Amino acid sequence: MEATVWLASLCIEATVPVIIGCLVGHTLFAALTAVFSQISIPIGPVPVNLALLAVFTAAGLLSPGRAVLSQVVYLLLGAVGGPQYDNLDRPLRPERGLLAIRKDLNLFANLRPAILYKELANASTLKPEVVAGLDILIVRELTGDIYFGEPRGIRTLENGEREGFNTMRYSESEIRRIAHVAFQAAQKRNKKVCSVGKANVLETTELWREIFDEIAPEYPDVELSHMYVDNAAMQLVRAPKQFDVIATGNIFGDILSDQASMLTGSIGMLPSASLDSNNKGMYEPCHGSAPDIAGKGIANPIAAIWSGAMLLEHLGERQAAARIMTALERTTAAGVGTVPGRDRTEAITAAVLAALD
Ligand code: IPM
Ligand code: MG
Repeated sequence: MEATVWLASLCIEATVPVIIGCLVGHTLFAALTAVFSQISIPIGPVPVNLALLAVFTAAGLLSPGRAVLSQVVYLLLGAVGGPQYDNLDRPLRPERGLLAIRKDLNLFANLRPAILYKELANASTLKPEVVAGLDILIVRELTGDIYFGEPRGIRTLENGEREGFNTMRYSESEIRRIAHVAFQAAQKRNKKVCSVGKANVLETTELWREIFDEIAPEYPDVELSHMYVDNAAMQLVRAPKQFDVIATGNIFGDILSDQASMLTGSIGMLPSASLDSNNKGMYEPCHGSAPDIAGKGIANPIAAIWSGAMLLEHLGERQAAARIMTALERTTAAGVGTVPGRDRTEAITAAVLAALD
């Protein structure tokens, strides 16, 4: 059975398992593979379109593979989704596959950095003085909230009208574990955590706030503040450098991380890591599969390559990760890949390869 071959093949050791995403995800992994092969990091085994995973899930094929999948330590993932899947039943869409991986592997901590080197301040649509030197880390809870809360669905009411409904929910333990991740991340950075919610309206985030307050004394070197999400959205464009670590739930984190990425000029530049409680996990660019530019050869491979460097760092391959990061810094400092849509994917990849020591 094809499913078994694929799931089992994810477990081959000494290689980095890869699932290739949809649309621009394919192109970008070609870029990442080129970089990895130049520094002799084996990558493999079988690139798989994530849409397949959604199909496996829907067909019930994933269950025997779950045990196998849960042994997977590191995954690299391309972007998923695309208009060709929009008419599929919800369970067959690739986004479902992505959510299934996150949930099955318990990847509850999603780290999304937004960094803007001073030389690149002009790449942002905001004034250079507002964003130059920006260094924010969004810690987004990834396996709870309205994304997974039950009950959910579309039902028909007594009057014949249809109603869509989802449930926002967080348990204390879910909040506690993501709070520890946020505080510990802040300890390694500028020692500030801003917990973002909507406690003036939503009980779920009222509890979130309470738990963060309860845990804060365990990290006396970190300053904790709270902000409502609407205000946080405003502050992110007004004065983004006030933030160090932003800790928030799944849905608010989804939205704020897209917004934060744009402060840096291009979502094509930013990586993300989704980790479990042992710091193992999945690495992927923050951006989506970009149907509007797919096939045009202009997708920016920097986020995919940077995600690969983050993965190597977590694998303990510090030197290899540092080589890639230096090459990326040189590439962007030379202005390559810093203006959305201007440089071709191959040109950016070639520049990164040429900049590798
Ligand atoms: C993200 C994406 C996903 C999400 C989609 C593709 C399901 O937007 O990783 O931010 O909403 O989490
Ligand atoms: Mg998103």
